[in-house]
Amino acid sequence: MDNNPYYGAERPARMTVSSAPGKVYLFGEHAVVYGEPAIPCAIERRATVGVEPREDGHVRVEANDLTLDGFAVEYRGSTSERPDVDVSSELVDAAMGYIDAAVTQARAAADAPKSGFDISIQSDIPLGAGLGSSAAVVVAIIDAATRALDSPIDKREVADRAYHAEFEVQEGQASRADTFCSTMGGAVRVEGEDCRTIETPRLPIVVGFDGGAGDTGALVSGVRSLKSEYGFAADTVESIGDIVRHGETLLADADPTGAPPTELLAELGELMNFNHGLLSALGVSSRSLDTMVWAAREAEAHGAKLTGAGGGGCIVALDPTPETRTALRFTPGCEDAFRAELSMEGVCVEEP
Ligand code: PMV
Repeated sequence: MDNNPYYGAERPARMTVSSAPGKVYLFGEHAVVYGEPAIPCAIERRATVGVEPREDGHVRVEANDLTLDGFAVEYRGSTSERPDVDVSSELVDAAMGYIDAAVTQARAAADAPKSGFDISIQSDIPLGAGLGSSAAVVVAIIDAATRALDSPIDKREVADRAYHAEFEVQEGQASRADTFCSTMGGAVRVEGEDCRTIETPRLPIVVGFDGGAGDTGALVSGVRSLKSEYGFAADTVESIGDIVRHGETLLADADPTGAPPTELLAELGELMNFNHGLLSALGVSSRSLDTMVWAAREAEAHGAKLTGAGGGGCIVALDPTPETRTALRFTPGCEDAFRAELSMEGVCVEEP
């Protein structure tokens, strides 16, 4: 630390902006926590974070998130000692946990433990809805804050530090899938520590959102206890792994350049339907998620499943036609339905 001229002191102020994408799980959420593979895909819904170092060591956060009315929080030391809190809600508290963990990682990466920041967050990814909002925010903060401190780190380190931030906030119940996908962009395959990008054709992804959120920690704990109580629940988790392995061979054999052929979409869709059934058996679906999944299937989507932790939030369907989106928009309990383009761009620097 002695060779760091900024240790314990101010650094030159530099406003830096980074953005990172959200994601959907094509296959494998929950099972990935137990070492099975998963395939998430980054989508063109992003969290954009501006970071400016400040000299007093305070952290001020202003957020304008899709699912929050906007809030501002300022703190020094830990987030539990906030001197200036505009609003307090469970969602804000949850968001602050991730933001604080990301700041801690950025300070450690830059070897600047006392640095303060003004952080502004703008996100069009709904919070806690299975689209990787927290991962995108954590990844973008770590990237922007390390750059703002003139200590940029490479993407692998951003992903690794973001994973550790999530791991800490989620009390050890996190895989590397969300954070690696948000950092790298495109489709990725994650199995334990083994994280790699994979090629996929441009999949016609449609997302349905019920306006709600799930409690990732509680849902992961629920699966963990089912799995330890029943051999057939453990088998279900392994079967999800089999689905992912099957799905990845289909993707590996596909031509990544053109539009995917109908037969491929039909096969992937069937696997997604199966994957949803197994997630449902593990208790992580909900009435509104099931309703949206069935609305998508009835609109002749190739397949549909919940995405992310479940309990509420989003489903993902494959349909190159407008039918699924239209059907979802008329489905009671579906608040929003949109086409989600695959985002090939992971975390990146934006114009301030
Ligand atoms: O709901 P999300 O986007 O936070 O995804 C959670 C995915 C899980 O597999 C349930 C947990 C994890 O960390 O992989």
